[in-house]
Amino acid sequence: MTRAARCTIEVVADAGRSTLADDVRVGLTLRPRTLPPKHLYDARGAALFERITRTPEYYVTRTEQGLLDEVAPEIAASVARAYRHINGAPTDLVELGSGAGRKTRALIEALQRHTPVRYVPFDVSGEMLRASAERLLSEYPERFTVHGLVADYTRDLARLPPSSGRLVAFLGSTIGNFTEEGAVAFLAGVARAMSGADRLLVGFDLVKAPAVIDAAYNDAEGITAAFNRNVLVVVNRELDADFDVDAFAHCARYVPERARVEMHLQATRDVEARIGALGLSVRMPEGEAIRTEISRKFTEPRVRTLYARAGLALERWFESPDGYFGLALGARMEG
Ligand code: SAH
Ligand code: AVI
Repeated sequence: MTRAARCTIEVVADAGRSTLADDVRVGLTLRPRTLPPKHLYDARGAALFERITRTPEYYVTRTEQGLLDEVAPEIAASVARAYRHINGAPTDLVELGSGAGRKTRALIEALQRHTPVRYVPFDVSGEMLRASAERLLSEYPERFTVHGLVADYTRDLARLPPSSGRLVAFLGSTIGNFTEEGAVAFLAGVARAMSGADRLLVGFDLVKAPAVIDAAYNDAEGITAAFNRNVLVVVNRELDADFDVDAFAHCARYVPERARVEMHLQATRDVEARIGALGLSVRMPEGEAIRTEISRKFTEPRVRTLYARAGLALERWFESPDGYFGLALGARMEG
């Protein structure tokens, strides 16, 4: 089969930017001012995130990667056991918020020992999704196809292609970018999209020494700062706005009482900006901030509670040797 024949990419209309105008109108009008993290990931934001994952301070990616490399064979064996009855049909590896799809190799290779694999990357960032699909197709010429979806995982899960068996992966602790209620609603939606035999694998960054977490979100090279400010670059470009991006300081702080990092853009002087596409003016006095992301940190008991609230049974819990990161393998709760 040619490489083109092995690859389908579906773009769900307007997936990336569709909610930007509404999110900006609501988020920059209400107090505290907030913007949803989804808008951080245009092509430049997705590339900046990739650079964050390579900074020495951002332990999250390399810790999860190490753990995945170790436990992927066990995870693949559980998926294969659940699908014993399927002879030779591909297993779907659905990856929500797939980004560069770098960690996925461990899962692809482990699954391929049991079945052919159809990789289903699902991300709002179309550029990154296409590039990672191309790369993986050239790396895996046999028993490997791609059906990508450029779509919003809070809205478009019903667009997942019908499958004969799935491992759904949500890696990187992206689940931490939801509030508790948001995470319950999101995971319940994922559970509804799964069959009883499908498996779900979610990566959770765990509570640890605050200094380690603070450093990860304040890298010395300033890449996280550029990533954070990029949301205003997106708003300027997409909504004809004139925010002076340099008038905002990157602030990211771990708040132990809430077990979460709160990331803000704080005005370093009085700011006035016009958002042309919305006919809206925004005035922010020096010191006022826009919250651009929360990144929650977890413990195993909290993950169990979250899974139960979302209608998911936690079957296996894997933890990195340093206790920094956990992977939860689960299935839809029956009954
Ligand atoms: N899973 C990768 C990337 C994490 S970055 C890793 O572990 O390194 C978060 C990813 O989620 C980005 O690629 C971003 O584009 C995507 N994303 C954020 N909000 C999304 C949404 N609502 N729907 C689909 N993808 C989203
Ligand atoms: C994608 N997400 C899990 C990252 C995180 O750690 O919350 C995004 C990020 N924000 C700043 N650095 C990385």
